[in-house]
Amino acid sequence: MWLAQMNARKGDHVMSKNVPHGGVLIERLQPRSGDSQHDLPEKVVMVDKWTLSDLDCLAIGAFSPLTGFMGEADYRAVVSSMRLSDGTVWPLPVTLAVDSSKYGEVQPGDRLLLRGEDGEDYGILHVESRYIPDKRIEALQVFRTTDEAHPGVKKLYEKPDLYLGGPVEVWQRPKAEQFGDYYLTPAQTRSIFASKGWKSVVGFQTRNPVHRAHEYIQKAAMEIVDGLFLNPLMGETKSDDVPATVRMKSYLALLENYYPPNRVLLAAFPAAMRYAGPREAVFHAIVRKNYGCTHFIVGRDHAGVGDYYGTYDAQYIFSEFEPDELGIQLLFFEHSFYCRSCQGMATTKTCPHDASHHMALSGTKVRAMLRNGQTPPPEYSRPEVAKILIEGMQQQEEGNSLMR
Ligand code: ADX
Repeated sequence: MWLAQMNARKGDHVMSKNVPHGGVLIERLQPRSGDSQHDLPEKVVMVDKWTLSDLDCLAIGAFSPLTGFMGEADYRAVVSSMRLSDGTVWPLPVTLAVDSSKYGEVQPGDRLLLRGEDGEDYGILHVESRYIPDKRIEALQVFRTTDEAHPGVKKLYEKPDLYLGGPVEVWQRPKAEQFGDYYLTPAQTRSIFASKGWKSVVGFQTRNPVHRAHEYIQKAAMEIVDGLFLNPLMGETKSDDVPATVRMKSYLALLENYYPPNRVLLAAFPAAMRYAGPREAVFHAIVRKNYGCTHFIVGRDHAGVGDYYGTYDAQYIFSEFEPDELGIQLLFFEHSFYCRSCQGMATTKTCPHDASHHMALSGTKVRAMLRNGQTPPPEYSRPEVAKILIEGMQQQEEGNSLMR
């Protein structure tokens, strides 16, 4: 009992100080100095969109305490034990992959220019480490499968075979096609939370439009904290997920109509989706801590795909860490649904009726409805959200037919 109280107090202390992971916010964004024009590295590495979104997260401090792409020691430790080589919890590799033919060309000590597919120079990698990963082991450990039908495994196997690690220096952020004002940095969100006087903030990760089930768990959490940080992932997702710009419009419509404006901050999370289920849930929590959240929501099959993970695996994984190693309070929610007999949203924790009373609509069925211009029932999605999704789907279809 005494120990439990001590731990609770210790945890409260970590929480109220709202410290970034590893102790300080590590930002790598620094404007390119005039001098560096004359001192540009000759060797260039092309960075694809996916990796560029990781570079952006490194730049703004979302990935604190990382200072760059992982070297071999950190990579191995992360893959095998969800920790950096110094023991700090970090569950997912953050790597820069280049063609293995570059092995002889690049040496530790080199400086490489990081160039995006748009031709822009984004910064420099100071190479400290050069190594060939065992992707099968990475897939097994990180994704718990080597099945190439898993979108994260597929992506991993498609990457080139040589990893380069070392600190980065980033000169600019990628330009957002739309909603640029929402690409806030952790320093900015922290200062906004402080200016609003929010002492406790719950982070919500999503790669989907916010449906009633999401809204239910967000609002349940909002009952016990000062503010909600709605932080949708805006980097690459699989092609059948709703495009980020359409989602952004839907979030704005939802917030305008159903949330008190002074209790929510909406901001884009630039990272790409890994679909790594449990490990990605830990990653999502740590990153939201960096943005200044004190709490983080993990619901049903967080960051999951297909049936690779058990419904609550992404909650169970947190028991592998001590609470103050993570420094963010997890809020776990069960699968939530609309119950016709309760006439409201519920979970099995609050609803006594069996599944025949519950509205069961699969994501696939809802997508088909939206594609046909049909509005899903209001118990599933707010009509304002559905309208935007239907418009977005129709525009996408028109775009696709023009491409054909
Ligand atoms: S995710 O890949 O970003 O996790 P999604 O946007 O669907 O996918 O989920 C966002 C958050 O809501 C996650 O924490 C997820 O576990 C939770 N969630 C999604 N649907 C439900 C539901 N019906 N009941 C409870 N939690 C849910």
